[in-house]
Amino acid sequence: MGSCKSVAVRAARKAGLLLKSKLGQARRIEYKGAVNLVTEMDLLSEKIIVGEIRQHYPNHSLLAEERVTKQEDSPYRWIIDPLDGTTNYAHGYPVFCVSIALEEKGELILGVVYDPMRDELFLAEKGKGVRLNGWKIHVSSTSKLAQSLLATGFPYDLRESPANNFDHFRNFALRVHAVRRAGAAALDLCYVAAGRFDGFWEMKLGPWDLAAGSLLVREAGGKITDFLGKDLHLDGKHVLASNGKIHREMVEILQMGRF
Ligand code: IPD
Ligand code: CA
Ligand code: CA
Repeated sequence: MGSCKSVAVRAARKAGLLLKSKLGQARRIEYKGAVNLVTEMDLLSEKIIVGEIRQHYPNHSLLAEERVTKQEDSPYRWIIDPLDGTTNYAHGYPVFCVSIALEEKGELILGVVYDPMRDELFLAEKGKGVRLNGWKIHVSSTSKLAQSLLATGFPYDLRESPANNFDHFRNFALRVHAVRRAGAAALDLCYVAAGRFDGFWEMKLGPWDLAAGSLLVREAGGKITDFLGKDLHLDGKHVLASNGKIHREMVEILQMGRF
């Protein structure tokens, strides 16, 4: 585990610093959907991370968002979002991160998220808590939804699907201090772990958005489930994360909307 940790940290820093160095430069943008972008930097970042991991662990399974899925006969699987916040990145808006998680026999044991713009490295190890640049962090102690700062995001199919999160956004916005939509789900989860957000919900996310961040939230003392308050599955897509104290209230509000 020790060296898995250093490989993940090294890969996240290397890819993150490259992304930072190219931010704001003209680049090729392709479309996976009407508003679902991918840049050549997503692909390059994935290449760097996968390269680092393969060099040390050629027999581990891999699930990376853009290109690489490799199923091996191994108890270990790496789950990678090489650039979380692509839309921000493509517009030169400096809110994005790299997310790397490791599972052992289907259970998350390591989560690393790196935000190169703030030089913030979030690291969770199963049973050992969470560190931000080496300092132990934990979720907030806010006990009332009405006094909370929340975060969310909107799905890429929002133009076609009625389950577009607008109703939940309205329902929460009318009941809390504020709701932020920064555009990088993995970072939103880190901020719940760090107590900067009291809660976060989003629909239709991928396992790469959720893997590292979900371990971070749990290890920081928070709670992460689906919209009904049931166990989160990485393929389940709908996620509700909180400091635990406002979780029940958030489940109640989510029941009022469509999902
Ligand atoms: C996206 C971001 C965004 C969220 C989207 C995600 P990507 O990831 O996390 O905040 O609202 O649903 O897909 O595409 O930038 O890796
Ligand atoms: Ca993502
Ligand atoms: Ca991505």
